[in-house]
Amino acid sequence: MTRASWRTRIGFILAAVGSAVGIGNVWRFPWFTADNGGAAFLLLYLLFVLLIGVPGLLGEFVIGRRGGSDPIGAFSALGGRNWRPMGGVALLASVVVLSFYSVVGGWILRYLLGSVTGAYFDAPQQFFGAIDYGLGAVAAHVVFLLVTAGVVYAGVDRGIEVATKIMVPGIVVLLVGLAVWASTLPDVAGGYEFYLSLDWGYLQTNFVDVAAAAAGQALFTLSVGAGVMLTYASYLGEDRSLAADGTIIAVLNTVVGLLAGLVIFPVLFSLGVPPGDGGPGALFISLAGAFESLPYSRLIGFAFFGVVALAALSSSISLFEVPVAYLVDEHDVARSWATAGVGALFLVTGSGAALSSDLFTLLADNVANLALTVGLLGFLLFDGWVLGKAALEEYESGAGPLARALGRPWLVAIAVVLPIFLTFTLLSSLTGLAG
Ligand code: PFF
Ligand code: NA
Repeated sequence: MTRASWRTRIGFILAAVGSAVGIGNVWRFPWFTADNGGAAFLLLYLLFVLLIGVPGLLGEFVIGRRGGSDPIGAFSALGGRNWRPMGGVALLASVVVLSFYSVVGGWILRYLLGSVTGAYFDAPQQFFGAIDYGLGAVAAHVVFLLVTAGVVYAGVDRGIEVATKIMVPGIVVLLVGLAVWASTLPDVAGGYEFYLSLDWGYLQTNFVDVAAAAAGQALFTLSVGAGVMLTYASYLGEDRSLAADGTIIAVLNTVVGLLAGLVIFPVLFSLGVPPGDGGPGALFISLAGAFESLPYSRLIGFAFFGVVALAALSSSISLFEVPVAYLVDEHDVARSWATAGVGALFLVTGSGAALSSDLFTLLADNVANLALTVGLLGFLLFDGWVLGKAALEEYESGAGPLARALGRPWLVAIAVVLPIFLTFTLLSSLTGLAG
């Protein structure tokens, strides 16, 4: 059987943007910006996306396209069997992330439904408390998982490519519409000020902490470390410029995060709702509660949670595809059976996270970051020290003159600079866990 591939260049880009644009963009990123110096933070963050996020992303792309296989198969093909466990780490990371991601996906579906029925308007706090963990959460997570599995089952080009070609433009159009609408609300100036006012002073005093957090977010937001981008790039031909595609993906991902803030903060400030701490409660409780006092509250709620649902789904699809690709590529399992098997796995792990807030928090706050960091470290060291010249050659294939000129600096960055940085984050999070 011939291996799956993307039908169009834009199809690959939108699938990757769909993976990158996720729950992280619509809730973590806007609060992060507001809390850390507004526009000053935004500039620093953009710099990190270009200096750390994009090079890391390209490190994954290179292994995927050259290896032409799932993470384990790609390492094996390029470095020999001894490297298989390194691909296994990435595979594990994809499983860990999706195990809690689909629980959040289930919550979002409940809010989408709640927007139609108006269920969360009266008592937003109680509504979230009633659905967050338990059998209801299990059921909602299963529905979310089934939709995810359905898209993956339909295939790379006919499922993932077609779905994300609709979903990603849908996200952007809805967000632009919501942002324009939000700007017409009364007293929104305070919202924009809270979000984007330029505060270099804050950044200067807290530079190390803010920089470390921003760099971590720059990697998480681009979906690197779990073999997602590697797997997506394995369905690519040699004629595309990885550097150009990667830059477009990073820019679109940032634009969506920016737009989300232009919806959230004007709404909260217009209604005098305290913005809160930026945790999940801020998205699901403050904001959902705020919608109630607006005209067309149900329509607004539906559009907003529709955006969040599309963002979550286009990311969960990409995570689900990693173990499916592994079964298809390494064990010659038919896509249909692979989808069923992987679905059964997530049915179990996700239900665990939907029943136990302890397990959920452990996965979401600790294990996921750890696995993603180790996964990425493996990719970059492999690129820099095992592939070396071959990595550069792969990077250059299809690249234009500007991208070619940046090839060597890129290799140095991923072989030396990024690994040092990642090792520091790893050590500090490990000591944080122990302490
Ligand atoms: N990039 C996604 C977000 O910002 O929500 C999260 C994510 C998806 C991380 C897929 C890692 C991954 F492999
Ligand atoms: Na993202």
